[in-house]
Amino acid sequence: MIELRHISQRFAGPSGWVDALHDINLSIPAGQIFGIIGRSGAGKSTLVRTINLLARPSAGEVVVDGKPLTALPAQQLREARREIGMVFQHFNLLNSRTVFENVALPLELAGMKRAEIEATVLPLLELVGLTALKDRYPARISGGQKQRVGIARALASRPKVLLSDEATSALDPETTRSILDLLKRINRELGLTIVLITHQMEVIKDVCDRVAVLDAGRVVEEGEVVDVFLKPRHAVTRALLGDVIAHELPSAVKARVAAQIEAGEGQLLRLAFAGGGVDRPILSETIRRYELDFNILHGQVDEIQGRAFGSLAVLADGEPRQLKAALHFLREQGVVVEELSHVQ
Ligand SMILES: Nc1ncnc2c1ncn2[C@@H]1O[C@H](COP(=O)(O)OP(=O)(O)OP(=O)(O)O)[C@@H](O)[C@H]1O
Ligand SMILES: [Mg+2]
Repeated sequence: MIELRHISQRFAGPSGWVDALHDINLSIPAGQIFGIIGRSGAGKSTLVRTINLLARPSAGEVVVDGKPLTALPAQQLREARREIGMVFQHFNLLNSRTVFENVALPLELAGMKRAEIEATVLPLLELVGLTALKDRYPARISGGQKQRVGIARALASRPKVLLSDEATSALDPETTRSILDLLKRINRELGLTIVLITHQMEVIKDVCDRVAVLDAGRVVEEGEVVDVFLKPRHAVTRALLGDVIAHELPSAVKARVAAQIEAGEGQLLRLAFAGGGVDRPILSETIRRYELDFNILHGQVDEIQGRAFGSLAVLADGEPRQLKAALHFLREQGVVVEELSHVQ
């Protein structure tokens, strides 16, 4: 649905050029919720603004729904842009207009007639749960409700793609949850492709199908969310994952484990499992089969997109040959085994 080819973005900074994006290549499939995550300044907003050419990239090609946006003349570009809706962190509502009028604005600008506007806006307000508040002004609704207005407005021109730049960052956890649920529902019911920018791995875990990790203007990792959670490859991904899965051992545990490893009393492993692996008693079977001792130090069992997911740090002790065979067995069972030779 969205193809970004060799996208670079260069800005004139106070002390020379700033390369905000370097040779970004991404292919975002239709109908998915695609997450883009990265630390502050990584280039997330810059990247999402190139998708609708709100900012034209210094180099590269943007193709949305088969249309090469970067090559279109102004008029055709304006039309193509109507198929791309956008929601913002700070909602960007007009305070002098009611909820209804805010959602109607893009339609008025497009010259739509009053009756048609009503026929479009009212069902959208119903969809986002704001029918009762349609005549209120933004000053008198909550942050979560403002974002619902922002989403309804973005949907007014019936886009095929919705871009969301930190749409939940200004909201509390419960309101975040409800907005994410709404985005999921829109994705499912309207078949909209959603590109969701966030700095929170929790958001990626809850709603995204695929994720790209951006660091210093480059895509450092990309894949299905479950795969990235099971086998994060880049240090930045691991750091971002640290918020939601237990990568880091608590410091008291660390000290104790370091002494045991030093004394040759075990090996530190990180085990990650998805789907069936969580439900089957693989660990106890491994322990029995290979006569090992597993001391579970830290971990959790959780859910990603409805699939069970587990991550455990264990200190495994036993015959070196048996231990080796056990790791092989675990990998055969689909468990991702990481041998941590030093205590992190
Ligand atoms: N218009 C601009 N002119 C100059 N530099 C810019 C401009 N827009 C962005 N930058 C720079 O590009 C880099 C990426 O910025 P961007 O806003 O895309 O980051 P971000 O990942 O969205 O960060 P945040 O999580 O804080 O929103 C930063 O170094 C920023 O200072
Ligand atoms: Mg940003």
